[in-house]
Amino acid sequence: MKTSSARKLKQVSLADIPRVGPGTPAGEWLRKYWFVVSAAEELYDIPKAVKVLGEELVLFRDLNGRLGLVGLHCPHRGTSLEYGDIEDRGIRCPYHGWLFDVSGQCLEQPAEPKDSIFCQKVKHLSYPVQELGGLIFAYLGPQPAPPLPRYSCLVDRGGMRQIEPVRTNDYNWFNFFENSADPCHICILHRHTGYGEQAWGDQFFSYTDMPDFQFVETDYGMKGVMTKPGPTPGTEFVDTMSLALPSIIQVGDTEFVHAKVDAVKLMTEGSQCEHVLFLTPNDDEHFTIYTVNYYTGSDPQFFEKLKAMRAAEVPKQEVKAYDSRKYMPFKGNVRQEDIMSQSTQGLLGEREERLATSDKGVIMFRRIVREAIAAAQKGERPKGVVPQEKASEVVYFDSFTGVRKAR
Ligand code: FES
Ligand SMILES: [Fe+2]
Repeated sequence: MKTSSARKLKQVSLADIPRVGPGTPAGEWLRKYWFVVSAAEELYDIPKAVKVLGEELVLFRDLNGRLGLVGLHCPHRGTSLEYGDIEDRGIRCPYHGWLFDVSGQCLEQPAEPKDSIFCQKVKHLSYPVQELGGLIFAYLGPQPAPPLPRYSCLVDRGGMRQIEPVRTNDYNWFNFFENSADPCHICILHRHTGYGEQAWGDQFFSYTDMPDFQFVETDYGMKGVMTKPGPTPGTEFVDTMSLALPSIIQVGDTEFVHAKVDAVKLMTEGSQCEHVLFLTPNDDEHFTIYTVNYYTGSDPQFFEKLKAMRAAEVPKQEVKAYDSRKYMPFKGNVRQEDIMSQSTQGLLGEREERLATSDKGVIMFRRIVREAIAAAQKGERPKGVVPQEKASEVVYFDSFTGVRKAR
């Protein structure tokens, strides 16, 4: 007999997952969540064109400080509002001067007769926008909008926050996301990155002696827990990574692999940096990564050290004079290694695959995502959408990394 979960899943195929446009199964599911549309620091006093879930939009802050996200093309005759003028009450199209407030309401049409009330009838596409912890989020779905989750890395809790430079990649967002459910690639693809020079060493992510990988479904999505026997009997080394719906990855081992900090302290106290990647699918072929580090440890130089280590991680691969392969060189830089692997995969559901035992995290995660899409289709609350009664609660993801009592 089929379980109700299996019945629900029949309506959602793997090929549905990577497509984000309006009206698609995943596109409708994703429109239940808030997405980052800009780092606050990268929104200046000019309009900013952004593409989110396949929709072309323009983000701005009016001179009264209100954030607006409206359709890119003016509803009059289509000129791009990216070139508009920002005013006290909103954004003005440069072509014929129609003025729109942050709700999309047209307020002025200078070329219309003085007694015209036509502008009252023009309501441009607009979406709600909110700022939290240095990131600007937007909600593109049906009203009422759920609460913007109070993600722990964006809430001030006595630590230090750093927002890294924003990155955009030109392949499908889900290849990046589900890569975090595939930790064995760390021991293989990333073995060139010189983890041995850092606190975790290459002993944990060893090519010849890989850690044990377990995957646990959580209320926010899934976590991958990697373990090895610890330094003393009854202890274990643990490295945890969380995948939170709709598109957030929290990594715990950043200090262990990218920062030269006190190794003994790291082992005894565990990770104190939440390294969080918020992915925003721009369309089916592009996504943007907003990266936040929230550090609660005692090293005031932590972000500087992290930056210096990242800068030192340059590809160390020889490129022959006749080698014109697009992603060369990639070996020696984690991010380049990931980009090469993920961007050459093709779209999930279209590519041929032969999944193996070591793909159990990927298999589990795809099931969780398909269930979330099915829940959205049925009008239920998918994982990761915060219910109204929990609006004020801080949302934590598990990424414990360090040594603990063996379980
Ligand atoms: S096209 Fe924008 S006001 Fe005419
Ligand atoms: Fe990777």
